[in-house]
Amino acid sequence: MNPLPLPAGEACALMGPPGSGKSTFARQHLKPTEIVSSDFCRALVADDENDQSATGDAFEVLHLIVDKRLARGRLTVIDATNLRSSDRAWLLARARHWKRLTTAVLFDVPLATVQAQNAGRDRVVPAHVVREFHGLLPTVDQLHDEGWDAVHLSSTLTRRSRTGR
Ligand code: GTP
Ligand code: MG
Repeated sequence: MNPLPLPAGEACALMGPPGSGKSTFARQHLKPTEIVSSDFCRALVADDENDQSATGDAFEVLHLIVDKRLARGRLTVIDATNLRSSDRAWLLARARHWKRLTTAVLFDVPLATVQAQNAGRDRVVPAHVVREFHGLLPTVDQLHDEGWDAVHLSSTLTRRSRTGR
């Protein structure tokens, strides 16, 4: 069951530090074409989703895909950390331009859990980087103030999907 109340045309950003479960969640609940992933875009331009030198080019590609999908009214979910307000501002502006609603999904996972999930996977991000990103998590109030139409916590969505409600 898809726990995300996301109609066609909406612009959605997953927000969380590396290892918080964004890509896992997206794979479980969305069609592959609805997910626009910064890692995938890095791989598209550099053959390596970990090549940080490709980040600028990758985001140019990501922005182009997102904009084309929003123009067409396709549900578009950005799988990136989205923890800098300037990154979020870009999506808010493009959604406003195309008159699309915006949804934030905040990965409100405790730091210790994120560190454990990060340590247990193939692609391990340095622990200090995870901690820095975790410290950038916005609050729900902050996101409402930025202008997001809906804000969901991943913990609530996951719980709801487990109980089937
Ligand atoms: P980045 O792409 O680096 O930003 O990370 P991410 O937020 O996309 O995290 P990802 O989905 O890659 O998950 C990191 C690790 O945590 C993976 O090994 C997942 O299998 C695991 N994981 C994700 N969600 C959960 C969860 O709800 N429970 C448990 N136990 N593990 C999870
Ligand atoms: Mg990911």
